[in-house]
Amino acid sequence: MNVEKIRQDFPALDSKRTRKAIVYFDTACQSLRPQVVIDAVNRYYLQEPACSGRSMHQWAAAVTREVDRARELMAKFLNASRAQEIIFTRNTTEGINLVANAFPFRAGDVVLVSDKEHNSNLIPWQMQVKQRGIELKIIPTCPDNTFDMDAFEALLDKRVKLVALGFTSNLDGVTIPAGEIIRKAHRVGAHVLLDAAQTAPHHPINVRALDVDFLALSGHKMLGPSGTGVLYGKYALLESLSPFLVGGDTVANSTYANCEFLPPPEKFEAGLQDYAGIIGLGAAVEYLQHIGFDTIRKQEALITYALSEQLKDISGLKIIGPADPALRGGVTTFYIEGVDSHRVALMLDQMANVLVRSGQHCVHSWFNARQIKGSVRASAYFYNTIEEANILAECLRKIRKVL
Ligand SMILES: Cc1ncc(COP(=O)(O)O)c(C=O)c1O
Repeated sequence: MNVEKIRQDFPALDSKRTRKAIVYFDTACQSLRPQVVIDAVNRYYLQEPACSGRSMHQWAAAVTREVDRARELMAKFLNASRAQEIIFTRNTTEGINLVANAFPFRAGDVVLVSDKEHNSNLIPWQMQVKQRGIELKIIPTCPDNTFDMDAFEALLDKRVKLVALGFTSNLDGVTIPAGEIIRKAHRVGAHVLLDAAQTAPHHPINVRALDVDFLALSGHKMLGPSGTGVLYGKYALLESLSPFLVGGDTVANSTYANCEFLPPPEKFEAGLQDYAGIIGLGAAVEYLQHIGFDTIRKQEALITYALSEQLKDISGLKIIGPADPALRGGVTTFYIEGVDSHRVALMLDQMANVLVRSGQHCVHSWFNARQIKGSVRASAYFYNTIEEANILAECLRKIRKVL
C-alpha cells in the first residue's frame, strides 16, 4: 500500500496547508476525514440543503434519495438483512441509550457487561438499575485484559436478558470473540448488544454471520462527519421495541390523545436529522471499502508492532493489554510509573506536534479498580506511517530522560 498517496486524501495531513507536520495518533477518539467525505457534506449544504421526507419539492426528494442511499450503503457494509435495520443516531452513546431505554426490562432482569467498558456502555445500564430495578453484573477480564470466556459462562443464566459488550476496546484495542459469546448468550435466551465504536473503523463486521441483536457504532471514528452514528437492530426486535425519543418524523398520524408510530427505522429517528452528516457517512463507507480492511489492518499492525518494540526499552513504561501487539489492533496505551499522563501528552504535542489522548479514556471504572491514575493512548490508522511511530518513540525516550 502506498501510504503517502493515501495521505493525500486527507487535507488535515497536508502540512503545506496546515503549516505544521501533525502526527495524529488520536484516531480512537475521532478519525481524520478524507476529502470525499468533506465534499459530500459540502455538497448537501451547497446544493440541496433541505429536509428529507417531509416536503414534496425537488430538493427534499434529492435529500431523501441521498439518505436512503447512505442507509443502503451502511446496511451492505454491516451485511444487514435490510436497510430498515439501520437507525441513524448521533453516535454510539445514543444507540446504546436507545436500547437501554427501549428494551422491555423487568425488575430483576440481569444485564452483563465486562469490567473495561467505555462509560457509554456502562452508565446507561447503571441508570436502568436505578430506574427499572435491573441487576448489572460485571464480567472480569483475564489478567492481560483479554475476554474471559469461563468468567462469562459462570455468570450466564436465564435471568440474563442482555449481554452488552465492547466489541473492540478503546482502552487496549483488544477485540472479543463475539461470535462465540453471542452463541452462548442466545442459548440462555439473552440478547446481545455490541458496542462496535472501535470495531467498525478497523474490522469487517457481518451482523448476520454474528447473529448479533443490536450493534452500535460512531461515524466519526470511521472517517465520517462528527456527530454521526448508527444503531443496527434485527428488524423483528426493532419492531417490538417502543421508541425512546419520540416526536416529529416518528409517527404516521396523531390525535390529541394518541399516535400511530411509523415502522423502523423511522420510529427511532425523532426530529430533523443531520442530513449532511448521514450523506457524509455514506461517503465514508464507500471510501473505507475502497481502501479495504486488509490494507487497514496491515498498516495498523505494522505501527503497533514498531511502537511496542521501541517502548519496551523505556524504563518504567508499562503497556496496557496483552503483550502481543497483534492482539491490540492499532492501539498502544501505556503509562510511566510516577509520571502524569497529561504532562506526557502535552510534551508530545509541544515537542513534535504529536497528538495523543491521555487520562482514563472514559474507562474510569477500570482505572479506579486498579488504582492507576491515567495513561497515554496512541491510536493508529492506515494513514499513519512508521516514521510517525519512530517520532513518537523518540520523543518518549527524551521525555523519560527529563521526567
Ligand atoms: C468503545 C467505545 N464505546 C463507545 C464510545 C462512545 O462513542 P461516542 O462518543 O461516539 O458516542 C467510544 C468513544 O470513544 C468508544 O471508544
